[in-house]
Amino acid sequence: MSERDIYVPEERKEEKKEEIKKAEKVEEVMKKTETEVVKPSEEEIKEEEEEEELLEEEPEVEEEVKEPIPKELIQRRKYLKRWKDKDLFETVEEVFDMSTQLAVYELIRRGVIGELKGVISAGKEARVYCGKSPKGDDIAVKIYLTTTAEFRKSIRKYILGDPRFEQIANRGLRHLIYAWARKEFRNLKRMEQAGIRVPKPIAVYKNVLVMEFIGENCKRAPLLVELAKPVNQLDVEEWTRIFNTVYDYMIKMYQKARLVHADLNEYNIMYWNDEPVIIDVSQAVPINHPYALEFLMHDIQQIRRFFSSVGVEVPSAAEMYAKITGLE
Ligand SMILES: Nc1ncnc2c1ncn2[C@@H]1O[C@H](COP(=O)(O)OP(=O)(O)O)[C@@H](O)[C@H]1O
Ligand SMILES: [Mg+2]
Repeated sequence: MSERDIYVPEERKEEKKEEIKKAEKVEEVMKKTETEVVKPSEEEIKEEEEEEELLEEEPEVEEEVKEPIPKELIQRRKYLKRWKDKDLFETVEEVFDMSTQLAVYELIRRGVIGELKGVISAGKEARVYCGKSPKGDDIAVKIYLTTTAEFRKSIRKYILGDPRFEQIANRGLRHLIYAWARKEFRNLKRMEQAGIRVPKPIAVYKNVLVMEFIGENCKRAPLLVELAKPVNQLDVEEWTRIFNTVYDYMIKMYQKARLVHADLNEYNIMYWNDEPVIIDVSQAVPINHPYALEFLMHDIQQIRRFFSSVGVEVPSAAEMYAKITGLE
């Protein structure tokens, strides 16, 4: 994305310059590490492409976007006038930039999202909404913020060295975040195929990811942390059962999905219908990532720490490491 592609109001010029400067820096770092990256084989690439069921990319809408109100948006607004959820429309308008709004409308137009209901979570990097599919099923809509500087910083350590990111490294920050959303979609798909309980991925378009909603009637399921604190709501047998399932998922994730979650803890595991559900997998890296084993060790320690705090007798880190990586 270059300055000349998009109309920028005078007061945002400085901000924009800063953004571009940062983008160039990230790209520079990425280029440097590219040489160290282990390239996937032709076969692996093909396999992965077959696995992906992404919505096909349309020509970039945002390149043509001129503020204040693009033609596209007016058309979509007309469409949305017929659409009852006006409040939410305003929320989305307030929080997100134009191209994100367009992405949401595009998913509505394509019949992936029927309506958006309330916000479930407002994190630093993404907001998660509950919505309804046109058929009326609950769906979770995760929208990555394209504008927070922190985001760029925090994703850097995961994307540097991920062979799947090489292509995107030269295409600017917005594309990096689209790639990040696609990565979460792909990781969910790979984990699902490996027999791990995750939210079923439904669609990804630009920085918007649509997946199965874990919970009911737009009330989300609890996270493990919420079942442990401030009041421990489960007995040790139940916790042990959950630990064993999570442990099994860690093994499957490494050996079948060939991924390391890299942020596995009690905040990223939900509990629904008596089963743990692994979430938040955008940062998961392939096992050939240069830091994969470090991330794995960290995940193991986090899981041991949490489950021993609720009374589970957890195996040693060394034992878990050997079992997960298949070295035993
Ligand atoms: N598929 C989902 N169904 C229901 N709630 C979800 C779903 N995915 C995420 N959430 C809720 O949103 C919160 C944030 O999502 P997460 O993917 O962990 O993003 P991040 O931690 O990066 O902001 C979760 O803690 C959970 O409460
Ligand atoms: Mg999270």
